Amino acid sequence: MATDRRPDDMVRITTPELADAFIEEQIAALRAQIGDKKVLLALSGGVDSSVVAAMLIKAVGDQLVCVHVNHGLLRKGEPEQVIKVFRDELKANLIYVDATDRFLDKLAGVTDPETKRKIIGGEFIEVFAEEARKLDGIEFLAQGTIWPDILESEAGIKAHHNAGGLPEDMKFELVEPVKILFKDEVRVVGERLGLPANMVYRQPFPGPGLGVRCPGAITRDRLEAVRESDAILREEFAKNGLEGKVWQYFTVVPDFKSTGVKDGKRTFDWPCIIRAINTTDVMEVTVEHLSNELIDHLVERIIKEVPGINRVLFDYTPKPPATVEYE
Ligand code: XMP
Repeated sequence: MATDRRPDDMVRITTPELADAFIEEQIAALRAQIGDKKVLLALSGGVDSSVVAAMLIKAVGDQLVCVHVNHGLLRKGEPEQVIKVFRDELKANLIYVDATDRFLDKLAGVTDPETKRKIIGGEFIEVFAEEARKLDGIEFLAQGTIWPDILESEAGIKAHHNAGGLPEDMKFELVEPVKILFKDEVRVVGERLGLPANMVYRQPFPGPGLGVRCPGAITRDRLEAVRESDAILREEFAKNGLEGKVWQYFTVVPDFKSTGVKDGKRTFDWPCIIRAINTTDVMEVTVEHLSNELIDHLVERIIKEVPGINRVLFDYTPKPPATVEYE
């Protein structure tokens, strides 16, 4: 049977053998818990929910229903990867909801960072609950809760229920197959379950997504500039051996314009800010110093390829005093 708490003497899962043993144990526990009933999972494409999905597919196959809500604030290629990996390769029962318009309409004109976060979180639950209501016979809700979430919620630092906050009338029994694992263990288990390395070892990405990297009121054109510049940055970091080495890196496109010149004509466009940081606990972060060649190349590509950008700036501020994200 699954344990609720991480045993004090549990060996850290660092090898394929230890991961396989954990997977085998969990699969038996999941089958015992779920029987022939159906399980629902909000699959964001992040490490934890992806590993939970892969584990449940192995344990109960198409009794698992995954719902991937695209809130329009995901990185370039993310929804496509979720569909490719889970629907096409792992044969998951996957419902894909493109709710981009709904989210962006609700966010239009909203400038306050915390209000933006609340709208994104609240709307997410609404879309997910609507999809759940369309389904018959769901008795379980799977969540990618991990051990640090439980410790932090016990310490009063944050509430841990990822898909928590569902309406009162929607009562499901929880299924949390990685809840006694640390993040590094979840990654090893995910690899053994056959998930691609770039999904399992991906950098942290906030729930409100690119929404917090498009400071102030989000507009579709500026959001696109964030998405495209982020894709270029990720591509260049991968090419230059920095993927998996630098803890987190992304771009921000602030809501102001400055004068520039292109092809002999005046431009009035946004700057694009690059932030690349390293940390262990995210309480304190240091900045990754990029080579001059890479800096020059990033500037050239972003200016040339991203509409609406005429300047590239680098944020070399540690935390504290600056937080990682801009909002
Ligand atoms: P800050 O900006 O607080 O970021 O220094 C620390 C880490 O947390 C991530 N972050 C978030 N993650 N929802 C999330 O799931 C959020 O609202 C959020 N805000 C920040 C951030 O990307 C960094 O890794």
